[in-house]
Amino acid sequence: MNKVQIVEVGPRDGFQNLKDYIPVETKLKVIDDLIEAGVKSMQHTSFVSPKAIPQLRDAGEITKILLEKYPAYDFFALVPNLYGARKAYELGLRKVSYVVSLSASHNKANINRTHDESFAELKTIMDNYKDLDVCVDVATTFGCPFEGKYSTDTVLRFLDRIAKMGVKEMSLADTIGIANPKQVREIVTAAVKKFPEIEFQVHIHDTRNMGMVNTLTAIESGITKVQSTLGGLGGCPFAPGASGNTATEDLAYMLSDMGYETGIDVDKLIEAAKYEKSIISGNFSGHIVNIQKGTQCIN
Ligand code: COA
Ligand code: ZN
Repeated sequence: MNKVQIVEVGPRDGFQNLKDYIPVETKLKVIDDLIEAGVKSMQHTSFVSPKAIPQLRDAGEITKILLEKYPAYDFFALVPNLYGARKAYELGLRKVSYVVSLSASHNKANINRTHDESFAELKTIMDNYKDLDVCVDVATTFGCPFEGKYSTDTVLRFLDRIAKMGVKEMSLADTIGIANPKQVREIVTAAVKKFPEIEFQVHIHDTRNMGMVNTLTAIESGITKVQSTLGGLGGCPFAPGASGNTATEDLAYMLSDMGYETGIDVDKLIEAAKYEKSIISGNFSGHIVNIQKGTQCIN
């Protein structure tokens, strides 16, 4: 049976984009529910400026609680710079995703850095914290709100620059949900072929209702770790037009129905999504929670 690991990024990508602050206990309940449903890996927060992302100002508190409660769990946090990596490391976290955009203009808008500055800081992080796993989140891989789309060669050149630094894991992000399946197939196939030593993930937004098909295309092109968010929350406040990710519960349902092994209990995940829906206003875009048991039309 084919195995696919679903990596939940909702507590970071989803919550960062909500207007009303979600209290720590509520965030923790959502995280508990996801773990209970069998989700094995999670981006649980980000260590970024609270001025940029006020919703995640509780990153330290949440991280401390989770590391104590689930010491062996695969938690990781997004960091934009050395400052964030240091904070995460000092709290005991040993995995981060370091965000850098393929788009120089989005990199500037999002984290106020040039590419050279971002790469220099990545090197410092890797030199200073040898036992920190660093996955590079390559934002705007499939297109940028300011610069448009990139050729596969341009993408590969950028990935090559990251790979040459000794990075072992990368997440290819469709930050503004602009990819199409042909493009995903082309880029993912080429990346997997050119960098066999790298473990790739995809991070797909569903802005144009192509989240599921693009995620599935990435899987069929050789990727076995895919990111998604419970309830399809998500969006980058610094990328105009960005909206939610592929919904985890919908994705888990589809993959399980197709015979992929995800290790997730889909019914429990749907309950988790229903709880999440009850505690946020708007933004929720998952589909499967709307189906009442026993009311499906057979034909
Ligand atoms: N976490 C918390 N605070 C941070 C920080 C971090 N990782 N990095 C910097 N800061 C603080 C500094 O201490 C400083 O605080 P002060 O104003 O109280 O002195 C302030 O932020 C400005 O520091 P500076 O280094 O000049 O940063 P900046 O203004 O150039 O902003 C980032 C750079 C990266 C901190 C900011 O753009 C950011 O947090 N972006 C995150 C964007 C994001 O999360 N996008 C969505 C996910 S892709
Ligand atoms: Zn995202």
